[in-house]
This record gives sequence, structure tokens and C-alpha cells, in this order.
Amino acid sequence: MSDPKKLFIKTYGCQMNVYDSERMAESLGGKGYVTTDKPDDADMILLNTCHIREKAAEKIYSELGRLKGFKAENPNLKIGVAGCVAQAEGAEIMKRQPMVDLVVGPQSYHRLPQMEDALARGETALDTDFPEDDKFETLKSRPKAKRGPTAFLTVQEGCDKFCAFCVVPYTRGAEVSRPASRIIREAQELVEAGVREITLLGQNVNAYHGHDGGLAGLIWDLDKVDGLERIRFTTSHPNDMDDALIDAHGTCDKLMPYLHLPVQSGSDKVLKAMNRKHTREQYFKLIERIRAARPDLLLSGDFIVGFPGETEADFEDTMDLVRTVGYGQAYSFKYSTRPGTPAAERAQVDEDVKLERLHRLQALLSEQQYEIQKSMIGRTVKVLFEKHGRETGQMIGKSEYLHAVFADTSDVSIGDIRDVRIVKSERNSLGGEIV
Ligand code: SAH
Ligand code: SF4
Ligand code: F3S
Repeated sequence: MSDPKKLFIKTYGCQMNVYDSERMAESLGGKGYVTTDKPDDADMILLNTCHIREKAAEKIYSELGRLKGFKAENPNLKIGVAGCVAQAEGAEIMKRQPMVDLVVGPQSYHRLPQMEDALARGETALDTDFPEDDKFETLKSRPKAKRGPTAFLTVQEGCDKFCAFCVVPYTRGAEVSRPASRIIREAQELVEAGVREITLLGQNVNAYHGHDGGLAGLIWDLDKVDGLERIRFTTSHPNDMDDALIDAHGTCDKLMPYLHLPVQSGSDKVLKAMNRKHTREQYFKLIERIRAARPDLLLSGDFIVGFPGETEADFEDTMDLVRTVGYGQAYSFKYSTRPGTPAAERAQVDEDVKLERLHRLQALLSEQQYEIQKSMIGRTVKVLFEKHGRETGQMIGKSEYLHAVFADTSDVSIGDIRDVRIVKSERNSLGGEIV
């Protein structure tokens, strides 16, 4: 038999791209490819891309520029662009970088095997359709190979919300939910391969409607999967947090006390201009209800500063919202104009004003994060151990609250869940002792 061909995938953007990269590798596995972590060793290099902000998209073109050198050394090397830049730019990518052999969008990568046939014939391949068929049904069931204790599982894709700043409804298409039965089957396969924690993914995961009981119904079905110990989900929209889901946070033991619930801005005027379809008061009320169900829940959020029309007073409303809510984790960004989205046409906030606001917001958020992290000292948490640390005998895992925790371990294996008493807080992690 000939040597297997080698595939190198570089993944940008959100967790769904991480999941998609796994599935693309599995799909090309059927064509004789095995993955490599060395690009200079590869027969095919795939960039799985993100289009969310201008910088993310520009990175791809500079990376493609770098890859030219690889192709000069190995003319048989195939170069492909997948993901959201592929969807947004399509054939334009091949025009700007003629050495690109393949462009495939996030909804058509189940056709990669046929596209690879075209490459083998010396042709190029482009597919950015939004096909009717369900790509996950076309893809074979997942390999049985042993894997690490945590995994992502896409349950919902696309978005119908059209926030005025966002490209996702255009790059991922309309909201589609996978049927619950298939998700349960995939979860069972993952557990058989060694997975103990599954993070359910969707651009609007709580808009999931592939189960009569919505996302909460799916979570309760997953709760019955033996060997699955932890369930998480991301990303949620505040308007889709229904009563059953809030209730599950208080009653489902496997559902972890962590919630990523982006609000973007604390100003009603900006929320309206963003088309987020809720007010700051409604967000506060929602947080109150969630915390009533699960008082120790750790909240995470996304924020955009310098959205068109944002004044200093609007920005102060965001700072105030952050002080009121208290976030254990947060992601904040300067508004970035995205061609084709409504906000791109509006009068823009100066770049230096955006940057200055971003610094102030990030200082507040990181102080909050650090305080919440420090408040864990003295508490005993359950840690799912994921890998070995840099120091011998140490292992790293995640607590229920998704804090990274280090501990000296002698009789612990990867995949074990153990009680750990937190003794110290570093900048981005906690240190603990096995109880
Ligand atoms: N579906 C998720 C978010 C997906 S994008 C939700 O609705 O919350 C992830 C984050 O990127 C967003 O929450 C937002 O904070 C940020 N983002 C999206 N478009 C952006 C833009 N044009 N400029 C800056 N940040 C943006
Ligand atoms: Fe983008 Fe808004 Fe949809 Fe989230 S809800 S993916 S921010 S359009
Ligand atoms: Fe980026 Fe597409 Fe995800 S734009 S954030 S990779 S959905």
C-alpha cells in the first residue's frame, strides 16, 4: 500500500470551526489522508477561516502569502480555504491567490471527497453552496479511535437574528437544528471513545429546535447518557433563554454552572441600533432569574465598543452594566466594519476613541475576572483532568466553572474527575490540592 497522504489543518475563529476541522479531517480520511501537525510535511494544507472581524479575514491572505513558499518547494502540495472567509469571498480568493486549489464553505464540506477527486485530476474546486442535504448525515459516523475527555458537538448552525454588525447570518446561513436522535447517537459514540464532557455548539445554540423540548429537552436526554458526566453549551442569545433552560441550570446535575450570554452593549440606544431586540433592563431581569435558579453560576459575555453612534455616555452604560452583572469571563472587541452588514454604512467612531474605550473596558473586565477567580481560594471544586502540566507530576483540568486548575497528582489519570481544594490563584489559572 502507498503511504498515506498528509493533511495539515489550521483552524481560526470559533469553536464550531474546531468541530468542523475534525469533521473535515475525518471526511478526507476516507480519501487516504491522515492529519499531521507539520505543514512542511503536508500534501494538503487547509485553512479553516473566520470572517468575524476585519483582522481575522486579513490574516488569511497574509497566511496564504506565506504558504506560497511551501508550494514553491513542493509543487504537488494542495492548498485549500474553508470556513467563513471561503463562504464570504468565494472565487475572489483564487483571484487574489491563484495558487489556491480549493475553496469550500461551512455548509458544503461533506463534498470534500469529490472535490479532492477534482484536485487529483489537476483541476481546482470551489463549492460555497447552501445545499438542502444535511452535511452531518452525508459524513460517515465518527471514527472509534480513543480521544481526549472533552469534545465539541454541533447541534445548531446558522443565524436568523441579523445583528447590524455581524457576518454570521451570511457566512453560516439560516438557522438549522440537527435532529435530537442523531445528536444523542453522536454523543454516545464520543463517550465510547473516552469523552466525558460535551460542549453543545450553535451560533444560537439556545434557539435549538430539533427536540420538542428545545435545548433543555436535548440536555435532559443527554443527561441519561451513561458515562457522559458534563454538559455545556455555547453561544446563547439572551432572547432565547426559555424557562425550561433556566430551570435545567438549577436541576440538571450534569449541566455545568457556566453560561456564555453575550450582551454586546449596556446602552439601550446602542442595543437598538445593533438590532439585539432586548433592553438592558430585560437583560438584568434575565440574569436575576438565571441566578435564582443557580446562584453560583459563572457568567461570561461578549462586548463590542465603538459601535457606530456610541457616545461616551453609551459606553459608560456598558461599564455600568459590567459592574452590575459581574463577569467571570469575557471577550471584548473594537467594532469592526464588515462589508454587506447594515452598520458598515453608518458614521463610524474614531479608531483611537474605540481603542481607548476598549482599554478601559478590558481593565474592568480583567479585574472582575481576577476577583472572581481569587474568591475560589479555599473552596473545593470538581476538576476534570485533561492533560499533563509542564512540571512533572502536575496535571491540568477544568473546574465546573471552566477555570483552569493545576494540581500535583500521583494516582490521577486523564479523564478523571476529582475533588480539588483551591489554594492559590495565578493570573489565568488556579492551583489546588487533590482532596
Ligand atoms: N452568536 C453569538 C456571537 C457570534 S460572533 C452571539 O449572538 O452572541 C462572536 C462575537 O464576536 C460576538 O458576540 C461579538 O461580540 C463579536 N463580533 C461580531 N461581529 C463583530 C464586529 N463586526 N466587530 C466586532 N466584534 C464583532
Ligand atoms: Fe451574529 Fe447576532 Fe447572530 Fe450572534 S445573534 S451570530 S451576533 S447575528
Ligand atoms: Fe468566525 Fe465563522 Fe465562527 S465568522 S466566529 S468562524 S461562525
